[in-house]
Amino acid sequence: MKEYHSLTAYFRESLGGHGLDWANQPLPFKRYLHREPIPLPSPTLPKTSLEDLLKDHPPRPEPDQPKPDANLLAGCLLMAGGITAHTPGVPNSPGLRSWASAGALYPCEIYMVATEVQGLKDGLYHFTAETPGLHLLWEGKLARTASKILGQRPQRLTFFITTLFWRSLWKYSSRAYRYCLLDTGHLLANLELSLAAAGLEVKTCLDFADVSAGVFLGLATEDEATLATLTTGGEPDDPGPEDPGLPPFDRQYSPLSAKIGRDSLLLKTHKSGNLETPEPGRLWPEQTSPEQAMTCPEPARFEGPLLEAIKKRRSRRNFLARPLEQDLAGAIIRASLPRRSPIRAMLLVSPGGEIPGGKYLYHPKPNLMEPREATADFGRLLGRACLGQAWVGQAGIAFVLWGNLNTLINENGLRSYRHAMIEAGKAGQRIYLAAQALGLGCCGVGAFYDQETNQVAALPQGGDSLYVVATGHVKGRKK
Ligand SMILES: Cc1cc2nc3c(=O)[nH]c(=O)nc-3n(C[C@H](O)[C@H](O)[C@H](O)COP(=O)(O)O)c2cc1C
Repeated sequence: MKEYHSLTAYFRESLGGHGLDWANQPLPFKRYLHREPIPLPSPTLPKTSLEDLLKDHPPRPEPDQPKPDANLLAGCLLMAGGITAHTPGVPNSPGLRSWASAGALYPCEIYMVATEVQGLKDGLYHFTAETPGLHLLWEGKLARTASKILGQRPQRLTFFITTLFWRSLWKYSSRAYRYCLLDTGHLLANLELSLAAAGLEVKTCLDFADVSAGVFLGLATEDEATLATLTTGGEPDDPGPEDPGLPPFDRQYSPLSAKIGRDSLLLKTHKSGNLETPEPGRLWPEQTSPEQAMTCPEPARFEGPLLEAIKKRRSRRNFLARPLEQDLAGAIIRASLPRRSPIRAMLLVSPGGEIPGGKYLYHPKPNLMEPREATADFGRLLGRACLGQAWVGQAGIAFVLWGNLNTLINENGLRSYRHAMIEAGKAGQRIYLAAQALGLGCCGVGAFYDQETNQVAALPQGGDSLYVVATGHVKGRKK
């Protein structure tokens, strides 16, 4: 995994770039040959405030959890993965979704096992953002089967987030696996928050049995793989049999393009992290407190419901050279990472504001910012390190999400690379939503020269940059 990350690093002197094969641009929707999508029932859209949701990781449920029904589920699916805008001036635009996705390629799909959900037949479904609707892939009580793949108690709802690698490979070649994992994190954060907004307790599981998940969902294993799962909704009265019998054979879908590309490095890397049997959830260590640090500033309140932030969230890159007020910075920083995490955040704070410009290591547990370098004239260098995307260097704060991959993998196994990258993607989506609610702009940055970014961010020896997320005041927003 560390090898994969190194092999797919961008270097200024060797970044060739390849032309895009427009004739084989992959379809961003999965269309089944033998299934018509069932229209979504009219959605119940929870109005829970973002302030209540972003405080906790995972977001905290209501004390009395509702029993999920089809309308609530429709609302959560639309919020997590629906189309929220169309690109102006692009005829037949496939739409922009509620989750940020590298290159707007949307490699991820959502599947869900529903059991005893009022208004919905029991079974395995695929959510399509296109119509939007549900494909019923396998009718029956499947909660117990799904739970065995995850190694968890059966629940009324089990979600699987998969990735069709080709959609991202088409543009990013071998580096695509990074984007697939980051994108999964973005979608997963939306799903966790939307279900929690509906009052449900969510449990995310990344350590499921890979091959069993693929067979269960009917995936063409080389091209599509499960990257995350989540359960919620409480235990059903009847979770179904131990063995549900043979899965249906007619789950083929239209090819994404005439030619489907594969990448041996990506596949090898993905498979090396596979698990044969599910493993219990991991408890990442809490970080030790630094000797010299400042408390992260008191946070501003997030205005409005999650729903508004999700509907209006967009990537905004037109940053103003204006520092971030400390309460806005405090709110965004706290929303980013949980107390226990496989990754860390280095905060690159622009000069001239209430928080002295410089580089800070964030410690979520005691909520501290540890100054690492007082130099604040990194903007130009950061823009250069991000493949010349100068606007990154203008942002009020750039988060460099990073990990020491050697140590992480040596201590926690190959699967931990997925954990690290998905966590970085989740942090990215949460930063986007926080920025949206605070009247700020935000944009994820996956395109960077790795070593230059490590240096500009002053990462400790052995630290690897995983993802950069820039946020701050932008032209045309209210604050
Ligand atoms: C993992 C990831 C990496 C991204 N990298 C870049 C980048 O390097 N440069 C950029 O301008 N936008 C980047 N973006 C933003 C996407 O281009 C954007 O999310 C996509 O076009 C959809 O638009 P929206 O975010 O407004 O919905 C990235 C997004 C993600 C999730």
